[in-house]
Amino acid sequence: MIEVRDLVKHYGEVRAVDGVNFECPDGQVTGLLGPNGAGKTTTLRMICGLIRPMRGTVIVDGHDVRQDPAAVRRALGVQTDSSGTYPRLTPREHFTYFGGFYGLSGPDLSARAQAVIDMLGMGEFADRKTQGFSRGQRQKVILGRALVHDPRNVIMDEPTSGLDVMAVRETRDVIRMLRDRGHCVLFTTHYMDEAAKLCDRVAIIIRGRIAAFGSPAELIEKTGCDSLEDAFVALAGGAQGLLVSEYANADGNGNASGDRNASGRTR
Ligand SMILES: Nc1ncnc2c1ncn2[C@@H]1O[C@H](COP(=O)(O)OP(=O)(O)O)[C@@H](O)[C@H]1O
Ligand SMILES: [Mg+2]
Repeated sequence: MIEVRDLVKHYGEVRAVDGVNFECPDGQVTGLLGPNGAGKTTTLRMICGLIRPMRGTVIVDGHDVRQDPAAVRRALGVQTDSSGTYPRLTPREHFTYFGGFYGLSGPDLSARAQAVIDMLGMGEFADRKTQGFSRGQRQKVILGRALVHDPRNVIMDEPTSGLDVMAVRETRDVIRMLRDRGHCVLFTTHYMDEAAKLCDRVAIIIRGRIAAFGSPAELIEKTGCDSLEDAFVALAGGAQGLLVSEYANADGNGNASGDRNASGRTR
């Protein structure tokens, strides 16, 4: 379980993250949605302890990221779009290398590496050097090494961006499987249909603030829209000041009344 409380990070004038609160329960997929530059990656980086928040706290499975970063690291698997792979290492070597950082060794480490290879369907290329791998194959290496220590909480930054159709489907299947195994999954995406299909709950972040929080069905109902994409446009427009909106500082319980015209903006 990941709990984010009043998280703030500014870069000079830019309020990248400006008082963000949400929580991601175990056994559920939480989507963090927002336009480019909304603060998604900065939020994820603070959760992982890669960036120090100016204010606020992150609690992962009861551990405060500031007080016990090592415990948080053990409890978290993180796949970000920016991490690379080592061209001279095979996927299996990646997994054993990274597993070692988490204190795994010997037969336990080999077994975990194999479990990840099986889980991600990497058998055919698990022992080939990653040089020349397709983007989808590299993505699996990055995801696999995030999962090698079997973390309860899994964070992914745009896991399906730039992948072909098959790789996108496989990634979504992995997300569902993690959820079904009781993991807490938090990921970001630009794709509203993906969020609608995969997410139990979504947090919509606009300009560093949570504009809405709830299940896709709840957000659709709240805005009177037909789809999550339309709801997103309505909420994003409202929070950016294009419309009068109660969602700008919403705690997830925003009141839909008076915001009906938000749906007029869809399209
Ligand atoms: N290291 C940084 N230095 C300065 N500004 C940054 C830095 N990282 C992010 N920002 C700014 O913070 C805002 C949020 O960025 P980011 O969290 O990457 O957004 P998202 O992932 O939602 O696209 C953007 O305006 C971005 O330009
Ligand atoms: Mg980002």
